Amino acid sequence: MLGMGRNSIHTMLCLEQREAIDITKLQQFLEENLHEPCIVVANAGTVNTVDFDDLQAIGELKKRYPFWLHIDAAFGGFAACSPKYRHFVEGMNYADSITIDAHKWLNVPYDAAMQFTRHQSLQATVFQNNAAYLGSSLENPDFCDLTPENSRRFRALPAWFSLHAYGKLGYQQLIEENVLLAQQLGQKIDDSPYFTLLAPVRLNIVCFAVNHEALTAEMNQQFLTTLNQQGQVYMTPTVYKGTPAIRAAFSNWRTSQADLAIIWEALTTAISSYFNESI
Ligand SMILES: Cc1ncc(COP(=O)(O)O)c(C=O)c1O
Repeated sequence: MLGMGRNSIHTMLCLEQREAIDITKLQQFLEENLHEPCIVVANAGTVNTVDFDDLQAIGELKKRYPFWLHIDAAFGGFAACSPKYRHFVEGMNYADSITIDAHKWLNVPYDAAMQFTRHQSLQATVFQNNAAYLGSSLENPDFCDLTPENSRRFRALPAWFSLHAYGKLGYQQLIEENVLLAQQLGQKIDDSPYFTLLAPVRLNIVCFAVNHEALTAEMNQQFLTTLNQQGQVYMTPTVYKGTPAIRAAFSNWRTSQADLAIIWEALTTAISSYFNESI
């Protein structure tokens, strides 16, 4: 969409056992490529393990290198709703732009994302919808002047209802309850001889694998199909540092302790049938 070309994308190395950028490597890259305009896309909550880049350190680098800092906070950004987990997003204020999905942890229907920018006039210059019948867009930009879309649904309404209904405290409770459940499931998995927890449970995702020598992606999918076909839970496949893995993501406002028992029962049933033995 941006026309920058795939060759302009550079993947940064992550820290060991982490999905967070190695800041030294990033600094080295910036030092060597200072002559080029550059956007650093940082993560506030990776898809696999909800890892966070050191946003504070990246923000500090902005003082020396003139890059644009975009933060993908699709669901990890909601850590800001809880005093317990707010530290994960420290340094977010350095961002030039941030994206967050309302259809993830805000529990509103697809497709409602939010974007924050420090450069609205630049955005309007890029996306302005110049047509006489739409009026002047730069002075008073409408949504169609700020995104690639012209016509759009009233996505903001369900998001507004949700915020209005639950408020700050409601979202703090939702986040903290989901994280507690994820941590409890993580503990059960860590204690089980049948599964391996692949990363610490930082927020709402448990990333784990079935314990099996030479586990392949097909075997992983076979286990997931057995698990999901029970109709009690739905978990998704991934690959974490080369290992076929499973993501159990908590985000629904109604998920409770009672569901944790259901989840564990479903996992136990699926693993017994997978190993063809009673567990
Ligand atoms: C961290 C992160 N960024 C971006 C996305 C893209 O989501 P969407 O296309 O729903 O905005 C996802 C989806 O899972 C995600 O987890």
